[in-house]
Amino acid sequence: MSETRKVGVLLGSLRKKSISSSLSMALQKLAPSHLKFSEVLISDLPLYNSDQEDNLPASWVRLRQEVAAYDALLFITPEYNRSIPGGLKNAIDIGSRPKGQSVFDGKPAAIITFSPGNLGGFCAHHHLRDVFLNLNMPTLPAPEIYLNGAAKIVNDEGGIDNPDTKKLLDGVMHEFSKWIELIKSR
Ligand code: FNR
Repeated sequence: MSETRKVGVLLGSLRKKSISSSLSMALQKLAPSHLKFSEVLISDLPLYNSDQEDNLPASWVRLRQEVAAYDALLFITPEYNRSIPGGLKNAIDIGSRPKGQSVFDGKPAAIITFSPGNLGGFCAHHHLRDVFLNLNMPTLPAPEIYLNGAAKIVNDEGGIDNPDTKKLLDGVMHEFSKWIELIKSR
């Protein structure tokens, strides 16, 4: 029996009933049962401003403590203007500071991007990979997941009808589980 692993989920969209959140739920159902997921709240974070390191907003303290406690992180996001949505990037910036105290350092991660259109969030995906390289956050290299036509992937019951998509996402969650163990065994 695999050891329980706590996985923080960061969604790129802040809106309710988002594709991000429905994909997150569907992915969690496919994941191995020893992965325990919880969403990291990022919608109440004041924009990063190093002046506030001397007078920390409570939500920054919460984010940093929460992320530090996870075994791994799963990022599920669309792209905004061919890049990372600002709310998600702000959360990453807050967790990455003060310099040398990044809560992301060494933490295994995986990225799932998507779009209602055809591009699957490709640009945001690779911008995140660049950011995670800088943060020393070992990110699952493959399979790369860029989901297009994303509004139609998850059905009303929270499941995935398309067998190929379901197999792809089932596969990535099992690869992520192996990735977490590999990185934590280093
Ligand atoms: C978008 N959207 C978008 N989509 C895309 O594939 N490439 C892009 O560059 C953009 N740019 C963009 C900018 C901004 C400010 C918004 C609000 C949206 C559309 C985006 O993919 C769509 O709204 C998704 O449905 C957002 O995901 P949620 O909110 O459903 O999880």
